[in-house]
Formats: sequence, structure tokens, C-alpha cells
Amino acid sequence: MPVIEARGVRKTYRRRGKPPKAALDGLDLVVDEGGVHGFLGPNGSGKTTMLRCLLGLARADTGDMRVLGQQIPHSLPAVIGDIGVLLESPAFFPPFTARLNLQLLATAAEIPHTQVGAVLDVVQLTDAADERVKGYSLGMRQRLGIAAAMLKQPSVLILDEPSNGLDPAGMREVRQLLRALGDSGVTVLLSSHLLGEVQQICDTVTIINHGRVVTSGPVDEVLKSQSTGALAVGVADAPRALEVLVTAGFAARIQDGHILVDRVEDGAVVARALADAQLYPSWLMPQQVDLEQAFLAITADEGGVA
Ligand SMILES: Nc1ncnc2c1ncn2[C@@H]1O[C@H](COP(=O)(O)OP(=O)(O)OP(=O)(O)O)[C@@H](O)[C@H]1O
Ligand SMILES: [Mg+2]
Repeated sequence: MPVIEARGVRKTYRRRGKPPKAALDGLDLVVDEGGVHGFLGPNGSGKTTMLRCLLGLARADTGDMRVLGQQIPHSLPAVIGDIGVLLESPAFFPPFTARLNLQLLATAAEIPHTQVGAVLDVVQLTDAADERVKGYSLGMRQRLGIAAAMLKQPSVLILDEPSNGLDPAGMREVRQLLRALGDSGVTVLLSSHLLGEVQQICDTVTIINHGRVVTSGPVDEVLKSQSTGALAVGVADAPRALEVLVTAGFAARIQDGHILVDRVEDGAVVARALADAQLYPSWLMPQQVDLEQAFLAITADEGGVA
């Protein structure tokens, strides 16, 4: 049974003086237990709206949503204790220490204070726990937000753009933390508009655009489905190598001083064609697509991004 299963979710916002706008247009989102699932799409594609619907913070027009087997929003109270949430930048009291902030949250939620030390450890803030939040960097605040979401020891963690505003080092810290949580058995669902950024930590992804699913599945399968099989070839005399390859029937062109050959199943065939003409490649490199390129390739057919 999937941990999160949403089918055909529609959500329309009415707008003054304009036709209503479907923020979610029959969206499906299925997340299996454990690991990290990326919920990806450009700005305005409906990610936040979907997460809000899943958490009972916005009402969908139609669609079937279940979290941990319970119907949402009807049976949300039965499972909300098991869902950790980080939707916006969390609000803490800046003059208080991180530890005191978490203790206050724990008290309010009737969670034993022993949990505070445990979650500070998880997000690696133990050393800074007794400093005021006022002096925290954005990345530390974000990790503190994740610590707060982990206080109740949830089995599901839902985060909306947890890397927003972070520098590359901060993003990396958050990435590593979420990866570790996913590995420990927590089901992590994180949204992001930075497709290339999160592909490194996600096991599976759902990519959306205009409130609809563009593609979903394990990251490597999504990438494979979009791979063009292009091969980059470094060779001293590129113009002549191009002539040889094109004559031999390859779809090739020169790019940045090297040759790019499309749809190559076996690089040896290209190497042999060049060697037969006394042109010896100095390197061959299969071209990887990333999720960003995969997304652009898929949406190019349907009128671009949101
Ligand atoms: N409260 C609202 N009232 C009217 N329209 C809204 C509201 N919230 C969202 N929308 C519209 O719904 C669409 C989806 O917005 P949403 O915030 O879910 O996108 P997103 O994928 O989270 O974008 P971002 O990457 O910028 O956070 C957008 O066109 C947005 O303008
Ligand atoms: Mg959003």
C-alpha cells in the first residue's frame, strides 16, 4: 500500500474578473514507503497547492487522496500525528535558543523533552543548540525547521521547497539530511522547482506542469526514457572527423570543439569509423540527461512550462 496516494485531484481558484484557474488539473501522486520522493515542477505548477490539499489546508474540488491509508481530509486526524510538515520557512523566536524553541514546541504538542536532544542530533545542530536562533544562518534555520517537523517522530515527512533561499553549501546540508532520513525508513516527500538540484537525492520523482503529471517513476527510469544516446567525441581534427562520420551515416555536429553524435548504441562503432580514416579519438563520453533536460524535452511538445 502506498504511503501517499492521490488520484485525479482538481483544485480551481476563482479569480475576480477572470475565468477560474485550475491549479490542479486531475493530478496523481503516489509515494511508496521509505526513501526520498521528489515532487517537482516549475513555479506555479501546483506543488504547494497539492501539498496543502494533502494536509487538509486547502480543499480540493474533486479527487481521491489517502495518506497512510486514511482518506484525506475526512480521516486526517487519524494520521496527522504521524506526518511531519515543513511548508514555509518555519517561525521561531529569534531571541531564544534553538533548544528552547524546540522545547516550547514539544511542550505544546505534549512530546517528551528527551525528543528535543534527539532531533537536534539528527539535524546536526547539537553544538549550536544553545545559541540564539537570531544568529543562525538560513541553512541552520532550515535544519531547525526539519528538526521541529521530526519532533513527533513522524513516519512521513512532507517538505515544500526545503532548499529555498539556501546557498550551495546549505542546500547540500539539507540534501544530505533528507537522504539520511529517507535511508532510515522515513518516507520523505519534498517539492522543488530545482529539478537538477534534487535529482541527486531522490529515489523516485513525480514531475508536474500546469497542475498535471508530466512524468513519474524511479529517477533512473525517467532519465533513461529521455536519454538521446548522444556521444561526445574528442578528436584533434574535428571538421574532418565530422565529415567522416556524416559520410558514414551518423547524425553528428561540432559543439564546443568536439563532435556530438546522436543516438549511438555502441561507442566502438564511432571509434572504428574514425580510426579507419586515421583519426583517433582522444576521448568518448556518453551524454547524460538530467531531470531538468528531461523535463524540458517532455514539456516542449505541450507548449512549454507553466
Ligand atoms: N490562494 C490562491 N488564490 C488564487 N490562485 C492561487 C492561490 N494559490 C495558488 N494559486 C495559483 O495556483 C497555481 C499553482 O500555484 P502553486 O503555489 O501551487 O504552485 P507551486 O508549484 O507551488 O509554485 P512555486 O514553485 O512558485 O512555489 C498558480 O497559478 C497560482 O497562481
Ligand atoms: Mg510552491
